[in-house]
Amino acid sequence: MGKYQEEALILANEGVADTTWRLVLECPRIAAEARPGQFVMLQIREGTDPLLRRPFSFHRIHPERAVFEILYRVVGRGTWWLSQTRQGSRVSVVGPLGNAFRPPDRPGPVAVVGGGIGVAPLYELLHQLAKPSAFFGGAVDIHFFYGTRTAAEMLPESTFSELNLPVHRSTDDGTAGFCGTVVDLFRRVLEKDRWRPAVIYACGSLPMQFAVAQWALSRGTPAQLSLESLMACGLGACLGCALPAPDPKAPNADRYVHVCKDGPIFEAGSIRWNKMQPPPVTPPTFVCV
Ligand SMILES: Cc1cc2nc3c(=O)[nH]c(=O)nc-3n(C[C@H](O)[C@H](O)[C@H](O)COP(=O)(O)OP(=O)(O)OC[C@H]3O[C@@H](n4cnc5c(N)ncnc54)[C@H](O)[C@@H]3O)c2cc1C
Ligand code: FES
Repeated sequence: MGKYQEEALILANEGVADTTWRLVLECPRIAAEARPGQFVMLQIREGTDPLLRRPFSFHRIHPERAVFEILYRVVGRGTWWLSQTRQGSRVSVVGPLGNAFRPPDRPGPVAVVGGGIGVAPLYELLHQLAKPSAFFGGAVDIHFFYGTRTAAEMLPESTFSELNLPVHRSTDDGTAGFCGTVVDLFRRVLEKDRWRPAVIYACGSLPMQFAVAQWALSRGTPAQLSLESLMACGLGACLGCALPAPDPKAPNADRYVHVCKDGPIFEAGSIRWNKMQPPPVTPPTFVCV
């Protein structure tokens, strides 16, 4: 599979939820080879502000139309500039980069857990899991757990209606769906319905991924997690996106994996979660009553 640098034509760039935008790019070679879970490095503007390309996952892939979509949250200067970019202009894109989600390696129910903008790569995955596709083959019994901090940050319900699968929603402040984190919701549904996933796919904040990984590891459930790290090159050259991992040749020893080259999709057991920086602990922002 190749990697390409293309000048992509912006077909649409629109707000879809609070601070969340959807960018639609015509980009034939990258769209033809993209897989769910992979990402692109996008040069937001010409010049030195921002200096580096920024990584974004494939949110939807339409190879037949030579198009892919990105869902992004405005968090800093680069993404703010991106939100100001107009339909009809062009951006330089490098990709597809990194590894992709793998099909389930055992039959059975599938749980997909997304926190906040972590929904971005999971949306294409859900499409490929829910419908017969060359890559995933079409799974049965899929439950999607989707949590945000507050209702305004949530993608509209209609976004998921075509998938025709159960969507369990949560917000930290209780303004939509279950009040609490998406991991609390995940645990609640599993307890109440006695539903057990054979495989988990997840993307979200580090504390969320940490909690999902601990749940999966304690029960021997395979989990594929899409992880993030600050990236300079996206190509394995700067070694800036390193995460601590057990060394498969000597399990007590450590080594480093690189999110851009070895990931961004990692099995839960292939990361040293207790050595991640910053520590995966955040105080709750809201209290549910
Ligand atoms: C493989 C990969 C895929 C990604 N996919 C998406 C996606 O689909 N949609 C999306 O909205 N974002 C995604 N991101 C995160 C995105 O790259 C950053 O939000 C973006 O680079 C921020 O650029 P900025 O110039 O606006 O912010 P900056 O000015 O660079 O930073 C603003 C703030 O955001 C923090 N920040 C920046 N990058 C990250 C990061 N990678 N992880 C955590 N905090 C960060 C900074 O520490 C700082 O506090 C992905 C990151 C990776 C590594
Ligand atoms: S971003 Fe440079 S090695 Fe991963």
